[in-house]
Amino acid sequence: MVTEQDPIKLMKQQVGKAAADRVKSGMIVGLGTGSTAAYMIQFLGERLQSGQLKDIKGIPTSFQSNVLAKQYGVPLTTLDEIDHMDIAIDGADEVDPQKNLIKGGGAAHTREKIVDCLAEQFIVVVDSSKLVDRLGSTFLLPVEVIPMAITPVIRAIEKLGGQPELRMGVKKAGPVVTDEGNLVIDVKFNSIDNPAELEKSLNNIPGVLENGLFVGVADVILVGELQDGQPIVREIA
Ligand code: A5P
Repeated sequence: MVTEQDPIKLMKQQVGKAAADRVKSGMIVGLGTGSTAAYMIQFLGERLQSGQLKDIKGIPTSFQSNVLAKQYGVPLTTLDEIDHMDIAIDGADEVDPQKNLIKGGGAAHTREKIVDCLAEQFIVVVDSSKLVDRLGSTFLLPVEVIPMAITPVIRAIEKLGGQPELRMGVKKAGPVVTDEGNLVIDVKFNSIDNPAELEKSLNNIPGVLENGLFVGVADVILVGELQDGQPIVREIA
C-alpha cells in the first residue's frame, strides 16, 4: 500500500520516472548524481530493455552514475566523442523561485556543472522538500577545493562572510575525497542575496575548482509532490 512507503522515496521515484519518460530514442543524455537521478537511470534502463527506447547514449556526472548506468544497461559515451548533448537530468539540494540551484550534496557538483551546462535542455528532478525561497536556507553550499590549497581557501571563504567546514567521510576515516581527488568544504552563509555574484567570487579564489551554485542553468524543474497520499509531478518551466 502506498501509505506504508516512505513518502520522500515515492516522490523521488515518480519524478525520476517522469524525467526518464522525456528522453527520446537517439538522444545523448547527461546522467545526474544522487538518489533521485538514480531512479531516472533505472527507469531509462527499463525503457531500453522493453524496447520503448533505442540508441541513447549517457554521459555520467559521477562514479555513481557511471556504475548505475552499467548496472541498468544504459550505454555510455564521453564528452570527447560527442558534438552536442540533447538533455541532462539531475537532482538538486535546493531550488529557488528563479530556478537557481544548490547542488553538491553528493560531492559531484563539478562534473555535474560541466555536463548539465552543456545540455540543450537541463531538467532538474526534486521532491518538494527541496523548494526554498532563498538559496542557503536549508543546505550548506559545497565548494570543491584542490587539497594543497585547503587552508588559504578556508581563510578566503571566511573573508567572504562564510562559515566553512571540511566535509568528513561516513564509514571512512578522514575527509571526503571527490571523484577528482579533491576535498569539499561546506559553507554556511547567513544569506545568499546574489547567487550569481557569489558563484563567481568563490570560483575566483585560487584553489577552488567549483562551487555548488547553479545560476541560470536549469530549464525545467520537475517536482515530486504528494496529493492525498499519492505521488504527483508538477512542472516549473
Ligand atoms: C550530487 O553532488 C548532488 O548535486 C545531487 O544531485 C543532489 O545532492 C541531489 O541528491 P538527491 O536526489 O539524493 O537528494
